[in-house]
Amino acid sequence: MGSIGGGTGSPRIDKGLDDVYVMESRICFVDGVKGRLLYYGYDIRDLSDHSTFEETAYLLWHGKLPNRDQLAAFSAELAANRPIPKGIVSLLKGLPKETAPIDALRTAVSALAGYDPELNGQSREANLRKAMRIAAKVPTIVGAFHRIRNGQRVVKPNPKYGTATDYMRMLTGKKPDKKTARILDVALILHADHSMNAGTFAATVAASTLPDLYSTIVAAIATLKGPLHGGANETAIRALLAIESPEVAEEYVLKTLAAGQKVFGFGHRVYKTWDPRALILQDVAKKLSGKTGHEKLFMVAKAVEEAMVREVGPKGIYPNVDYWAGVVYYMLGLAPDLFPATFAVARITGWVAHVLEYWGDNRIMRPLDWYVGPKEAVYVPIDQRS
Ligand code: ACO
Repeated sequence: MGSIGGGTGSPRIDKGLDDVYVMESRICFVDGVKGRLLYYGYDIRDLSDHSTFEETAYLLWHGKLPNRDQLAAFSAELAANRPIPKGIVSLLKGLPKETAPIDALRTAVSALAGYDPELNGQSREANLRKAMRIAAKVPTIVGAFHRIRNGQRVVKPNPKYGTATDYMRMLTGKKPDKKTARILDVALILHADHSMNAGTFAATVAASTLPDLYSTIVAAIATLKGPLHGGANETAIRALLAIESPEVAEEYVLKTLAAGQKVFGFGHRVYKTWDPRALILQDVAKKLSGKTGHEKLFMVAKAVEEAMVREVGPKGIYPNVDYWAGVVYYMLGLAPDLFPATFAVARITGWVAHVLEYWGDNRIMRPLDWYVGPKEAVYVPIDQRS
């Protein structure tokens, strides 16, 4: 009994839960050796070539691809749920302008719970309706907060458009062209799920105590934010932008590694080879770089990648999704601090899928820690303490 600490030997401690399986899942398969990612058996490369974010969200929530009518109904329902209550807009207006968009999102999703008429309905159907409401409102919240902090008029959602188009519209005030919207759509597909990652695990831990769906998403957003997880896209692009030219990129890598520091956007707990999402986004970045005048950024990113793969590739460290996603988002004109929130626009679909799956056979998460503190402390009244 670790938390009691009565035994003589100490247990094996899995600090980062590296090799711990917490459940069986049918949703997402990550092959860290071959560099494959599947959602319900469908390869991410096929989905990014042929699917849309809405279709992928349907797949994650229902376990199968929709037919035309199902997809139309699903997309329409998602679009219809995009508007956010006035009280949420007021809340966003009340936040300091310096608030990070991911923090504004976390706060707003928490506040949204109070507006949901079915907050405590725990049937799968009620939870799917809530999932629709939350997922639809995430891009609206991020778009509204971004414009408020820049002193701009909030752009209301337009149900005519899909998530990628409307998200860009709500951020910039302009409808993106089809190619731009499709690039964002592909990025959303690639970020939609990734098995039991830290954010999804946080959502699952929260879910295991049977709160409402909003609470699980707030836990997930909080966890996604960190630079070791979904915040790596922002940290990585800031590092790349600080590198003056491709010629000094290698020096940056060697210095960073020699100082025992990490190069953000590289490494993964599961992938010990190329992350398939990063490969797809690298191709996108290459094509975008010429069109957007960001050739230098692409060449710097490529030079850092080459040096990293040469230096630490043999240890299984390769670029992850955040590395090339950050480059793509930057080329699309998104501010770096929007990147983690943009990740959440997509990943909410995976969080919901995993929470609902866990609720299908719930058990409270309660691991142990191995107590190594004192056991015979004598209480000394405050006046007698030195
Ligand atoms: N740069 C340099 N060295 C690295 C990097 C990196 N990005 N990542 C791992 N390493 C090294 C570590 O220093 C360590 O070396 P050592 O064995 O000589 O001590 C070894 O590789 C193992 O690294 P850990 O951090 O122990 O690996 P872990 O599985 O715990 O961490 C993680 C995975 C957190 C992603 C890590 O690779 C990292 O911090 N990367 C940078 C942050 C990042 O890009 N995160 C996004 C991940 S993708 C996502 O969450 C969406």
